[in-house]
Amino acid sequence: MHLKITGFTLLAMLLGCNAAYAANPEAGKAASAQCVGCHGPKGISMAGTFPNLAGQKVEYLTAQLKAFRGKTRVAPVMNGMAAALKDEDIDNLAAYFASLKACE
Ligand code: HEC
Repeated sequence: MHLKITGFTLLAMLLGCNAAYAANPEAGKAASAQCVGCHGPKGISMAGTFPNLAGQKVEYLTAQLKAFRGKTRVAPVMNGMAAALKDEDIDNLAAYFASLKACE
């Protein structure tokens, strides 16, 4: 009985961190290798000129990456970084960076 409650609690915690995302944060983590040189391995940036991404909202991250890709938000480095990202990559990257603070 006690084990069952513990298992359920763990499951609820896992779902709590992941349920909001249809995307795959694990795939996003793999894709983030190309981002961490500036934005940091835990989404806390390496320098004052780069924004932190950890714990940022999924919707915001997704919207910014699409804006960079479509060049409606102009920032040459990020326009270049986002140019080759597919919608799925953007969803996964957003899910990964959004998950960092909430789940660690
Ligand atoms: C060479 C450094 C560099 C790399 C690599 C890089 N970024 Fe950025 N990123 C920046 C800079 C600089 C900005 C601020 C752009 C501006 O001035 O608007 C930024 C902004 C962003 C923002 C907007 C944050 C906000 O608060 O509005 C997101 C989201 C983002 N980057 C995601 C990524 C992702 C995902 C990757 C990997 C695919 C990546 N970046 C790779 C430098 C980088």
